[in-house]
Amino acid sequence: MSGIHVLRKFSTKPASRFRRSLFFSTFSKDLPRVRPYSSSISNHHKFFFSSHIWCFRQLPDWVSQKTTSIGVSVRHFSNSVETEKIHVQTGLNSNPLVIERIHNKDQETLGESVSRVEINVETLGGKVREESEAEKEAWRILEDAVVRYCGSPVGTVAANDPGDKLPLNYDQVFIRDFVPSALAFLLKGQGDIVRNFLLHTLQLQSWEKTVDCYSPGQGLMPASFKVRTVALDDNTTEEVLDPDFGESAIGRVAPVDSGLWWIILLRAYGKLTGDFSLQERIDVQTGIKLIMNLCLADGFDMFPTLLVTDGSCMIDRRMGIHGHPLEIQSLFYSALICSREMLSVNDSSKNLVRAINNRLSALSFHIREYYWVDIKKINEIYRYKTEEYSTDATNKFNIYPEQIPPWLMDWIPEQGGYLLGNLQPAHMDFRFFSLGNFWSVVSSLSTPKQNEAILNLIEAKWDDIIGNMPLKICYPALEYDDWRIITGSDPKNTPWSYHNSGSWPTLLWQFTLACMKMGRPELAEKAVALAEKRLMADRWPEYYDTRSGKFIGKQSRLYQTWTVAGYLTSKLLLANPEMASLLFWEEDYELLDICVCGLSKTGRKKCSRVAAKIHIR
Ligand code: GLC
Repeated sequence: MSGIHVLRKFSTKPASRFRRSLFFSTFSKDLPRVRPYSSSISNHHKFFFSSHIWCFRQLPDWVSQKTTSIGVSVRHFSNSVETEKIHVQTGLNSNPLVIERIHNKDQETLGESVSRVEINVETLGGKVREESEAEKEAWRILEDAVVRYCGSPVGTVAANDPGDKLPLNYDQVFIRDFVPSALAFLLKGQGDIVRNFLLHTLQLQSWEKTVDCYSPGQGLMPASFKVRTVALDDNTTEEVLDPDFGESAIGRVAPVDSGLWWIILLRAYGKLTGDFSLQERIDVQTGIKLIMNLCLADGFDMFPTLLVTDGSCMIDRRMGIHGHPLEIQSLFYSALICSREMLSVNDSSKNLVRAINNRLSALSFHIREYYWVDIKKINEIYRYKTEEYSTDATNKFNIYPEQIPPWLMDWIPEQGGYLLGNLQPAHMDFRFFSLGNFWSVVSSLSTPKQNEAILNLIEAKWDDIIGNMPLKICYPALEYDDWRIITGSDPKNTPWSYHNSGSWPTLLWQFTLACMKMGRPELAEKAVALAEKRLMADRWPEYYDTRSGKFIGKQSRLYQTWTVAGYLTSKLLLANPEMASLLFWEEDYELLDICVCGLSKTGRKKCSRVAAKIHIR
């Protein structure tokens, strides 16, 4: 570390976002690290300090420390993750900050990080395939959706609908929406945009943003970001990246899935390009750790599933999915596996890796055992005894059989089954949620038998889940009083529309991956062919409405990027099975042997997970 360059006392009045931006632009030439005056922070915790990322070509890639002089505390996690965490509070900066410039020859600059990542197209199956008209148009739309920052591609806008007079935040780069775009680019041999996206979003992590004076936890990734041009003076403008962590989002929803998708995409980037140097970088390793620490932090939870508020994932409005929704659990599980794979094990990470392994094992047991429903299980629930007070109760969550919805008794096929939407004390959400189920198959969160059964259910219930346009986001819709009470009378989420059982073509790629993993690509091909018949003619809508997905959604955007990208990614996956196989996971038998409860050692009680292993092998 070289000398101290600036010592500055902030006023106690919170600076406006814009003022702060200008203040930090003073250091634009050689952006310094910022660290609190009097606290020691270990070197691998680096946080960015500014209200925007600025476009500086020589921006060093070390991630600056983001903190303010008050509210900095170092905390140790108790659940065997012993990692320092710096608590950040924004605004009231009353103590001096020391700003240091640190020279590190070993680390690349961001300018270098955007260098080309070439993928040998030969390795992508090498097959020459005639693209359909729909594919050609899709590529044109996808290229047009690319967002540039300082001249480099960094993501794709959510929608590019020329007729849309009120784009709201659809002109932003959403983390979750970019994933299928990223995969399409990667599968086509274009790695740059994905690398840039991963590095820039990393710098947005733990941003200094608050909702009414409260800051979200460090490690949180934004839902979306926008490139803004800001005037520095009369003659100069500067591009800045401006993230949204939910503080502007409708309903102020928390983007829990963003960090999980970021980790999943980071791993996919390495697998598909062979460029593992990105995930090995210190700042990237720190990013992974921050997300994992946030997810693994101790709370009041009784279950290994992640507890979240409503609307914290693709369904980003109130839809009764608060608690332990399957979508978040399946992404959480995948992010845990990816992190375990990517984290370099050393003294500073070994406890985290241990905690990841323990959580993986407990989470997979919990989901496989308690979320699974098929005709047999429904019959068991139908005959459940309730109010059982004991450690070995059969009806552990005190589910009243009256909760089984009448539609389910008729709907559940003889063959097949699925994972519940949500599980909490005295509550099972029996709705079928597509993303969570497909991603459980892809990540092997569900057992091999369950994976097969999920695809059997789709086949048996094709008209309900695929219908005229793949794929229903969930099934069935909330209607009447349920709609009124659970959605809060949301006019966008009326029955069989949007999140309330609308059909979302973007989900095709997840379905395709699940089918390919299970050796049933023909199912995906059938769904893709169905979508292909309409998407181009309908101008690539965001979603479709009605029970069978016959109509373009009433408030649906057109030229929705992840519709386009989901379709392209499905086509590319089907054409490149060997590439597809890099994106899913097989059963991990070692995980079944991990058990930290200690019951088996005492011999006094039976560990229920030991018994569960027998079903899987
Ligand atoms: C809607 C979707 C959300 C998506 C966003 C941008 O809000 O619910 O999942 O990320 O649009 O497309």
